[in-house]
Amino acid sequence: MEKLKLNNSNILYEDALKVHPGGVLGIRRPYNFIRGETPIYFKKGKGSKVIDVDDNEYLDMLCAYGPIIIGYREGEIDNAVIEYIKNNGVCFSLTQPVHNELSNLLNQHIPCCEMSLFVKTGSDATSAAIRAARSYTGKNKIIRCGYHGWHDWCVENTGGVPQSTLDDVLTFKYNDIETLKATIKANPDVAAVILTPINHPLGEKVEFPKNNFLKLVRDVCDENKIVLIFDEIRSGFRVDLGGAQKLYNVTPDLATFGKAMANGYSIAALVGKKEIMQVYEKKAFISATYFENGIDIIASITTINFLKKNNVLLDIKKKGKYILDRLNSIMPKYEGICEYSGGEWMPFFTFYQNKTVNYKLARKNFFTNYLRNKIFIQTMHHSYISYRHSYEDLDNFLNITEDNLKKSIGF
Ligand SMILES: Cc1ncc(COP(=O)(O)O)c(C=O)c1O
Repeated sequence: MEKLKLNNSNILYEDALKVHPGGVLGIRRPYNFIRGETPIYFKKGKGSKVIDVDDNEYLDMLCAYGPIIIGYREGEIDNAVIEYIKNNGVCFSLTQPVHNELSNLLNQHIPCCEMSLFVKTGSDATSAAIRAARSYTGKNKIIRCGYHGWHDWCVENTGGVPQSTLDDVLTFKYNDIETLKATIKANPDVAAVILTPINHPLGEKVEFPKNNFLKLVRDVCDENKIVLIFDEIRSGFRVDLGGAQKLYNVTPDLATFGKAMANGYSIAALVGKKEIMQVYEKKAFISATYFENGIDIIASITTINFLKKNNVLLDIKKKGKYILDRLNSIMPKYEGICEYSGGEWMPFFTFYQNKTVNYKLARKNFFTNYLRNKIFIQTMHHSYISYRHSYEDLDNFLNITEDNLKKSIGF
């Protein structure tokens, strides 16, 4: 398969490196894909497809890292936003009535949601959750498990973060209740446990809760008067309209939602029990110039109504099952070399050190072949499925995956 023409991407990137630290930010940098093989700039998208600045069209399996739950340029959502801009405007000094509508919608669907507040990014929401928990309990320590954004208390690269902030944040391993219990026992001043209810660490396989894990976390938090926070930025409005808490029937005290709640518009939410959320009446503070803007709220209301009306989450689950069923027949052959994880929602392939196969090379070839076959996928981050992925798209993805495994692993 021939290498893609990526001249325009590369020229833009070289230019950007002179005026922007790293050219592009964080996870979008080429080293997170296959350098030299990956596009660096997209110019547009429609449905399940994206087009780069060299006019290569890809079947997109990354869905903008999660927000694109329906599809790119989805008429119903974008038109609602355009109408709102035309008829109402973008930015005001006061809150607009649509705000209450979205709060009521979240109350209807999310088990822990008695009150909500809206912010712009997932990092805003998780940080607001941590502040609420600290303010409510009067304690400082946080125990976390998963990626929660770029703010000081949770950023993975700790450059520029005061040691005093890091000292108050402890970690535990997903599905390991004993370590969590031991950490709580050793630290009497824990305000909150925050975790992603489905584990999706960068570069590692996706994991689901085992042996009643979430329920046991709930219990240990209750016993120790610790606020339990589910970070549902990825699982929210994807695995269920009520999030993973609904799917697994474990209700946290607070939860954060973002990404899929607005099909790409910039909004996230902190939701939770009234008693804790009420710290933001007086005891704690949150506000920002853009938090109350109506357009992202309209996008979210329209997206959630679209998800309900079209049974989108069931459709996505069926599509995920379609992928899973075919892979279940292919993957056993590659046991110990390459593993599929992510169930019906977050497809991901991880490669392992092995005696017979150069796994680093196999992995590189595997992801290179996807790109050369115009399937846009990440080497470090799981994929997603959207409503606009057709069964033809999925067959294309699966056929290329099967061929790709044979070619890159050698059998
Ligand atoms: C589970 C989780 N929490 C928080 C965040 C941070 O969200 P944002 O990138 O919108 O700040 C992310 C982003 O990927 C996430 O996956």
